[in-house]
Amino acid sequence: MLIPLILLILMTTSTDINQTKPSSGRVAWRAPSNIAFVKYWGKRDRQIPTNPSLSMTLKNCYSQMKVEFNFDPSQKMQVEVLFEGKSNDKFQSRIAKYLESICLELPFVSHLSLKIDSMNSFPHSAGIASSASSMAALALTLCSIEEHIYGKKSEREEFFQRASYLARLASGSACRSLYPNYALWGQSLHFQDGCNEYAIGDIGEISKEFKEVCDAILLVDSSVKDVSSSAGHQLMNDHPMAQNKYLLSDANTLSVLKALREGDWALFGEVLESEALSLHAMMMTSNPSFILLKPNSLAIIEKVKRYRLEKDLPLFFTIDAGPNIHLIYPKTIQVDVEEFIENQLKDLLEEGKWIQDMIGSGPEEIEFDS
Ligand code: PMV
Repeated sequence: MLIPLILLILMTTSTDINQTKPSSGRVAWRAPSNIAFVKYWGKRDRQIPTNPSLSMTLKNCYSQMKVEFNFDPSQKMQVEVLFEGKSNDKFQSRIAKYLESICLELPFVSHLSLKIDSMNSFPHSAGIASSASSMAALALTLCSIEEHIYGKKSEREEFFQRASYLARLASGSACRSLYPNYALWGQSLHFQDGCNEYAIGDIGEISKEFKEVCDAILLVDSSVKDVSSSAGHQLMNDHPMAQNKYLLSDANTLSVLKALREGDWALFGEVLESEALSLHAMMMTSNPSFILLKPNSLAIIEKVKRYRLEKDLPLFFTIDAGPNIHLIYPKTIQVDVEEFIENQLKDLLEEGKWIQDMIGSGPEEIEFDS
């Protein structure tokens, strides 16, 4: 699987950039966010994960990037970034730094002038991480620009694989936002399919029970987190329990794959919740330590457990590196879950806010003028 990607990198790096004709154009992509069922937490070298992770691609939470480019071998790189119509220094410098870091993979980037116009479908202030969707959208626009400049169109599978590789270099979890339904990233001790360089979308035949899965994102607190995800990954380097956590998440990936294939919601839920809590256990026991959960996050977890017991419904939670709670459940019980949120959880949410999302069909190339 690695062969086409390596060939493509060699192909572009061996082309003499000064011989390539100047060109300009406009490209636009929409890329979804994803929710990890098995978490990526800990990395080595250049964004190589320390355990495999597995995610569901979302539908309603996405980033959209419209890019005007001008390639001229006699010019140096220039980037201008608008986020939701306004200039945003932090986002602009993150993108500029990323572009500088990938000049070996994409030599043409050193001679690109880019005007990027980016937006998210979800509120900026909601405390939902947007790096996965925005970095996936950026990687896709770069892959499209590459095709324009070199006048070559690659197979779609290769195109998304390359975008996943480039997205990984921007933000690890972004590499999983390139595929419909589910994505798997990282090598495992238990199965052959995983790859550290990019995520894969083909995780085998999924049971009908996991074809229509919902994610209700409960917004508990939108204030800025005490620890960035890159600082969090770094704290795993000296964590006394890190090696056990990596082994556990590797085994959990195998269990989630089994549950998705066999339609086993009980196994899925047990592993999902254990993964979320062990991610937070790692943060609570690192040095320095962090508690990102809020009292209302814990109150919601308690209520979800009680409701599940009382109603005997497959409703489970997961949590990323923050206080918000994601409720994962089959679409068949959506009406019950909505009623439960409105009647029993709403008071625990910031301004009563939550977002209904579900399994999605992956990125989409869009009209620049749309
Ligand atoms: O992609 P990063 O570096 O922002 O890390 C994401 C980490 C988690 O969201 C906590 C887990 C995951 O796998 O998405």
